[in-house]
Amino acid sequence: MLLAKFAEVLKARRFGRKKIMARKVPIGVLLSGGGTNLQAIIDAIAAHKLDAKIELVLSNKADAFGLTRARNHGIATEILDHKAYPSREAFDQAVVDLLRGHGVELVVLAGFMRLLSPVFIKAYSNRIMNIHPALLPSFPGLHVQKKALDHGVRFAGCTVHFVNEECDEGPIIIQAVVPVFPDDSEDSLAARILTQEHQIYPRAIQLYAEGRLHVSGRRVLVDGLNKDEGAVLVQPPLQS
Ligand code: GRF
Repeated sequence: MLLAKFAEVLKARRFGRKKIMARKVPIGVLLSGGGTNLQAIIDAIAAHKLDAKIELVLSNKADAFGLTRARNHGIATEILDHKAYPSREAFDQAVVDLLRGHGVELVVLAGFMRLLSPVFIKAYSNRIMNIHPALLPSFPGLHVQKKALDHGVRFAGCTVHFVNEECDEGPIIIQAVVPVFPDDSEDSLAARILTQEHQIYPRAIQLYAEGRLHVSGRRVLVDGLNKDEGAVLVQPPLQS
């Protein structure tokens, strides 16, 4: 054990690396649709910004374009039609069995249009992430860009959180904020938010891979966080 550690340190020195790379976390991505977040994760891995390996992409929809994205990159795929199962729990158990069969440690929900039952949550407690296109706890659920526009908020954004038994309610890992403009449509706002989703989802997974996330009650504590006191946004701007 000690010898192995010594060899690792020697190897890291020989290759001039400052720190030993984080291990590659085996992840499973669940989706029901286009999979642009999946693509962002694939691209981040390819760019060596994310120490993860996608072991499985699973969809409940056979025609989800995300499956094609996975196949294009040689990633294993599975389709499980939830309508073929007698209950939510039976479907979830089948999903969990597949994830475990592929050695998945962290489950990444990326546009997976299913609520998870306790069967699933307990099997992967604090090891399921979801991305939501709003600044939680504001605007959980569906049609959130419309809700944000109707409410007249000045900022919108996206949230990556751990999944618990309530919908869109689990401990928050990372958020990105975007401005909302008076002439925004649902589509323009959704596109602005989606661009940020593609930044923060790989980042959240990387923080997990580095072992820097610790759930404490409702809060996720992040090791080694840089505080930026100047990260303030004002809308409309102070000088307009
Ligand atoms: C994203 O807006 C995400 O926030 C929500 O579902 C959408 C999935 O988009 N959970 P894509 O399939 O990753 O393009």
